[in-house]
Amino acid sequence: MVQVLRTVHEFRVACEKAHASGLGFVPTMGALHEGHLALVTEAKRHAPIVAASIFVNPTQFGPNEDLARYPRDLDGDLSKLEAVGADILFAPSTDEMYATGEQTRVAVPRVAAPLCGRFRLGHFEGVATVVTKLFAITGPCTAVFGRKDYQQLAVIKRLVVDLCLPVQVIGFPTVRDLDGLAKSSRNLYLSPDERACALAIPNALAEAQAAFATGERAAATTLARARSRIEAVTDRIDYVDIVDADSLEPLVGNQIDHRALMAIACHVGKTRLIDNVVLGEDARIAVAEAK
Ligand code: PAJ
Repeated sequence: MVQVLRTVHEFRVACEKAHASGLGFVPTMGALHEGHLALVTEAKRHAPIVAASIFVNPTQFGPNEDLARYPRDLDGDLSKLEAVGADILFAPSTDEMYATGEQTRVAVPRVAAPLCGRFRLGHFEGVATVVTKLFAITGPCTAVFGRKDYQQLAVIKRLVVDLCLPVQVIGFPTVRDLDGLAKSSRNLYLSPDERACALAIPNALAEAQAAFATGERAAATTLARARSRIEAVTDRIDYVDIVDADSLEPLVGNQIDHRALMAIACHVGKTRLIDNVVLGEDARIAVAEAK
């Protein structure tokens, strides 16, 4: 049985009990899918007791974003967590996480600046703040995050080092549907037509992987191909970019000559989707043709 805890105090006490044997932790915003569940399974490989959290964190949503309509299904989520053997679910209210008068924020300015940071102002500050608060409650643990949110993972790794938090951060590969689309809670918003259009994203990444494998190293060429694929089917591109996979800064000389991250963010209908690969490192994406 998953133990469901609603208060910071109860969760802290449960985590303290788990420290002797080892605690794994998977923070989420719920509407759980196989990507989230794979993180729980990974956490279980590292620690005998695994806690997940479900909290739709208001401070990471911009004023025109989807906080109000973000999918919520606590009962469904609970049975999925049960099925993968999670031990604890922390599902606090907003008031429990953000006390009246709260004002503290955690900023990781340089890692948060490029890519999504240019389009979602304040987003990573909200993520960094809530994850720091969660780690302040869990104490020592092994925390598993998805590489699907590559920049988020980079922000969290940075803050854990900078704030001397007793947390081991693990990045887990992106879990995809059979046709290549990265699993996301936001895929629930997509109509069947939009979902078919969204396949342009993994297709563009797969094409870049194939070009890289045959020796293409000019970022501009790879990006132009990807852009035209995405432009054909999406309503708005935030970015299609290739950056240094460690610093997230622009490539020197536009050449892919060491670890490079290719990342895409675009809007399909009203839904913002993101995806990425580290060229030459991540498994090749198996895709079906987009519409
Ligand atoms: P959420 O979007 O619910 O994602 C929770 C975790 O699941 C994150 O680490 C995310 O990278 C991972 N994840 C999502 N889709 C995945 C996929 N297809 N494959 C592998 N992992 C995947 O990310 C957040 O919530 C929030 O920002 C949070 C960190 C909980 C802070 O509020």
